[in-house]
Amino acid sequence: MKRILIVLIAAACLTACTKKPSKEADMDKFITDLMRQMTLEERIGQMNLLTMWFDVTGPRMSKGVEKKVRDGLVGGVFNFWTPNAVRKLQDTILTQTRLKIPLLVGYDVIHGHRTIYPIPLALASTWDMELIEQIATAVADEASADGLHWTFSPMVDIVRDPRWGRVSDTAGEDTFLGSEIAKAMVRGYEQGDLSKQNTIMSCVKHFALYGAAEGGRDYNTVDMSRIRMYNEYLPPYEAAVRAGASSIMTSFNEIDGVPATGNRWLLTDLLREQWGFDGFVVADYTSVSEMENHGSGDKAKVTEMSINAGLDMDMVSEYMIEELPALVRAGRVKESTVNAACRRILEAKYKLGLFTDPYRGVSDERAKSQIMSEDKLALSKEAALKSIVLLKNNRKTLPLDASKKIAFIGPLVKNQRTLLGSSAAAGNWKQVKTLWDALESKYANNKFLYAQGSHLVENKLIQRMTDQQNGNVIDDRPAKQLIAEAVQTAEKADIIVAVLGEAYDMSGEAASMSNIGLLDNQKALLKALKDTGKPIVLVLMNGRPMTLQWENDNIDAILETWHTGTRGGEAIVDILFGDANPSGKITMTFPRSAGQIPIYYNHKNSGRPFSNDSKFTVKYIDIDNSPLYPFGYGLSYTQFEYSDVQLSDSTLTGKGAVTATVTITNTGDRTGEEIVQLYIRDLVGSITRPVKELKGFQKITLNAGESREVTFHITPEALKFYNTDLKWISEPGDFLIFIGGNSETNNRAKLTLI
Ligand code: BGC
Repeated sequence: MKRILIVLIAAACLTACTKKPSKEADMDKFITDLMRQMTLEERIGQMNLLTMWFDVTGPRMSKGVEKKVRDGLVGGVFNFWTPNAVRKLQDTILTQTRLKIPLLVGYDVIHGHRTIYPIPLALASTWDMELIEQIATAVADEASADGLHWTFSPMVDIVRDPRWGRVSDTAGEDTFLGSEIAKAMVRGYEQGDLSKQNTIMSCVKHFALYGAAEGGRDYNTVDMSRIRMYNEYLPPYEAAVRAGASSIMTSFNEIDGVPATGNRWLLTDLLREQWGFDGFVVADYTSVSEMENHGSGDKAKVTEMSINAGLDMDMVSEYMIEELPALVRAGRVKESTVNAACRRILEAKYKLGLFTDPYRGVSDERAKSQIMSEDKLALSKEAALKSIVLLKNNRKTLPLDASKKIAFIGPLVKNQRTLLGSSAAAGNWKQVKTLWDALESKYANNKFLYAQGSHLVENKLIQRMTDQQNGNVIDDRPAKQLIAEAVQTAEKADIIVAVLGEAYDMSGEAASMSNIGLLDNQKALLKALKDTGKPIVLVLMNGRPMTLQWENDNIDAILETWHTGTRGGEAIVDILFGDANPSGKITMTFPRSAGQIPIYYNHKNSGRPFSNDSKFTVKYIDIDNSPLYPFGYGLSYTQFEYSDVQLSDSTLTGKGAVTATVTITNTGDRTGEEIVQLYIRDLVGSITRPVKELKGFQKITLNAGESREVTFHITPEALKFYNTDLKWISEPGDFLIFIGGNSETNNRAKLTLI
């Protein structure tokens, strides 16, 4: 018996000892073996990311990239794609470098690679997490077929200042919604398995607080309390990290006086130690060298600071390859720190399967079948339809009746480039169908009227903008002449559709604006059209919340279409004529005037909350205190009615849960989608609490006359916040539970946490 037992134990041991090592152990061994063969310079080379082809986003271009690649001084490149180009570059690696370590190939694939989807701010307006995840998956499929491994997305920066041009690349102002979107995008891009050739690695950016730049000026200083960071700005980054994001990008701004790229508290204490992030950290474009401008030290000092803070990869500055070898030799940076950074980058390459197949995902067949495939174009149209927001619709001006005489007026009716928006990656605007093209193909026998009416961008602004090459052409025709032609055309119509807004490069990076209303020439056109006395629909194409007080007071219907992507023209036409019903809701507050900024729904109550009855309260004396359109707002061609909020219990215990239920009825005459929103207010806290916070949402479709119960489960988790000790806690007391169609809802019930 004893003998049998020994034999069994021995057999078990043998199996255990010869058991195939886990995937991770294989990877560790592979990388350890590889790193043993690498010189210090080669290990540092992996930390060097250079740009190829175009200088799209930064002040400086990388030079001599191919030679540096051959010398083993480059770990990755970006702004570079196509199967051929990528194949050739990896060929160089395989045939002309000592260790044949494949390059990472990245790009700013923000809302599509070649098939362009609505801009992120528009996609957020869908509140549709499944759709957003599906889009990220489709984007990964297309980008990987075009040679890419890595996207610099999602951009999860919370923003409350629409003057900042990059609001277009974000999900808007809300922490909860932003976190949900961040997770959906990471899941979509990576699918939990980077070895699949149709996935790409995500890069959460910009860590951290980039959206809080003072005055909304891009790249500007940020100064924020830890309480605000933890409760309002950091959660989306954390959510993306916990969803499995494999890389993260530092931001340009400072945090507590230390630039993010060299901020050890941020990159090590918070990111690695508190959140357990095990991917790699890349700097934003030249943000390492920019630390000199911040006043953090000379070239050697800022390099030392950033690597010791926890940065793994330098984007474009090349300070790592130029300074690190000497810093290591001088003992200012430990070799083990370099090794850890190099290892993290090699791990990413390993997980992507690049060591097995340096041409991962790249084949002409895949490119042919996946790039701009019919299903992707259809998805882009679906997203466009769902992201459009109806802001106003007096007397059912919309949908339009195609049998009427309609004048389409404005510089965006026939504009292709604008539909794609900023950050449009490799999207080719020449393939875009304009709103006019879509009209003509859908209503072939109809004679719509057209006039340009105004310049899209005034000449003086074009001259200030750096990028004049993609459609913003200087036009010397006098504004008055364009308006006169437009008025003549409008006079012949029953109804006017004015298509106005912002050119694609008036939002996005380095496109902050102090005036976020329509430009003067467009406004003058709109006023002249108004003087005709005809009903007017304003179709807006733009990348940020705009100030639309005059438009709201004077125009019959306003449709916010954002920059809607490759199939945007068709989607807008479907909505205008009622083949689709608008369902989007804004995820950033629209102010009445730029002077109200920052304005956001989840503000604090203050000691003197706003009141019309008293002078001495939080307000301006020259303008209403409220926003023009609140967060979460959007209309439909039908209407929804909400019942009172019913709680399953008026008290909640530490470990329990209650349900909050409303019945929603479609009281209009057509099917529509409604985004039902749950907000919570914590009435008393050890720190002051916002007047409302979004804590849940559901999107439902209801036929005309149909009613449905919508239920939210509320646990103490939804009542938690970071207190002064930055502990995540809930505190017993009273809470208001609101459920409604936007953040101004007052439909509520009281819940007590005991
Ligand atoms: C932007 C990043 C972008 C990078 C690379 C920077 O200027 O801030 O968002 O990923 O350039 O293009």
